[in-house]
Amino acid sequence: MADEFEPKILGILCNWCTYAGADLAGTSRTQYPPNVRVIRVMCTGRIDPAFILEAFSLGADAVLVSGCHIGDCHYIAGNYKSRRRIALTRKVVEQYGIDPRRLKMTFVSASEGALWAQVVRDMVNTIKKLGPSNVQKKAKMAEAGHAAPSADEDLAEIAKASAGKKLEAAPVQKK
Ligand code: FES
Repeated sequence: MADEFEPKILGILCNWCTYAGADLAGTSRTQYPPNVRVIRVMCTGRIDPAFILEAFSLGADAVLVSGCHIGDCHYIAGNYKSRRRIALTRKVVEQYGIDPRRLKMTFVSASEGALWAQVVRDMVNTIKKLGPSNVQKKAKMAEAGHAAPSADEDLAEIAKASAGKKLEAAPVQKK
């Protein structure tokens, strides 16, 4: 019997709310699928859309961004900004042929361990239905010289540009 597809999901979580909520789910021994690899950021407002494009180009099947509830951001408006950015990034990834359901933003507080477990279950179910992301396959085809539509060539460029590189923080603007 063929192995069931297990999605690789990158979770980018805010330190103050969802990361603590995910920790609570763990310490409460709540059972949920182990498909999310977590990166912690201080606020969802720190998430550059380039991080998300790089995740897809490196083989993530989905990206889950999660932070404080609207109105609870520890940096006042980070999650408002992130919500707008994620909405726009969903449109961008769609242009690359990536189903926008592969990019999701949720709001989970430090006391909502059970909600975090449910968010992960829902995301894993959705991505299992969609199947594996074809971004890397398309990039390899383009690299091998097989004809590819222009959006696929762009993806190959993303994959090549991010291969083996770490994203660096943008320099701080001095006044
Ligand atoms: Fe959590 Fe801003 S501090 S989203």
